Amino acid sequence: MTNQVNHHKVVLVGDGSVGSSYAFAMMQQQVADELVIVDIAQDHIQGDALDLEDVQPLTAPLDVHAGTYADASDADLVILTAGVPRKPGESRLDLVNKNLKILQSIIKPVMDSGFDGIFIVAANPVDVLTAATQKLSGLPRNRVIGSGTSLDTSRWQVALAKKFNADLRTVNAFILGEHGDSEFAAYEAATIAGKPLLTVAKEAGVTQAELDDMEQATRVKGGSIIKLKGATFYGVATSLMRLSRAVLHNENVVLPIGAPVDGQYGLHDMYIGTPALINATGVAEVLEVPLSAAEQAKMVKSADALQAVLNDALN
Ligand code: 2OP
Repeated sequence: MTNQVNHHKVVLVGDGSVGSSYAFAMMQQQVADELVIVDIAQDHIQGDALDLEDVQPLTAPLDVHAGTYADASDADLVILTAGVPRKPGESRLDLVNKNLKILQSIIKPVMDSGFDGIFIVAANPVDVLTAATQKLSGLPRNRVIGSGTSLDTSRWQVALAKKFNADLRTVNAFILGEHGDSEFAAYEAATIAGKPLLTVAKEAGVTQAELDDMEQATRVKGGSIIKLKGATFYGVATSLMRLSRAVLHNENVVLPIGAPVDGQYGLHDMYIGTPALINATGVAEVLEVPLSAAEQAKMVKSADALQAVLNDALN
């Protein structure tokens, strides 16, 4: 951590569309005092830093500059977005070998710098790469956080708010499991304006089959966006910013993340999407959403799908 009191420093590794959207969000939201951008594309990071520094007079001063892994030595946070993105039709798990190699080339120099902060990981397949980041870095599990199902949860909340014409801020619902094809909605615990989602749906004449269709549309929304515009970035970049704020400002807030489960849902030794309490220590507590028996079975199935990839990738 940096020596200057209250000086929050973030190193962003990966300045593709997710990374640069994160950097732009940082200039708007002013979550840290210093943002260092690192990528193998040297011209791009120099250009991005110059472009972003011009935001300051219109928002507030924020020291943004291009850098190297050595800048992680006194950083509070390292954000990992570097990786090959999904092509249309490709699953996140298809990316594992390519992006694991890239990750290996990043974690070592970051740790060699003396980094002693918190990693937030977004590169896909995010649950696998979050587990790999923890193993490769040797940092305690609470100091490695995945974006997990944060974006999927946002997507689900947007879908529910639209369907039931509800104020988005009253929608309390989570997507759990893998950030990917086996993720699922936790219906039993979901509420809209304090009422159980299933009651709200019944009163509105919305059937479970319709909810299932909405859930499936949420599950594949990333792929749908990739088909339309080639990539998704604003949603995940904003999830990463929300997490960064929770850590840097010691917020003690509950957010859906890729969490290091240790007995929750009967799962161990992996990262998977569930809410957690986030503060300056990183993951202060992994929380368990109350699930029906069918939902619990979906969680186990999702974990099994991830574990198979983890075993292949990490052993
Ligand atoms: C998304 O879901 C591609 O994982 C990214 O938008």
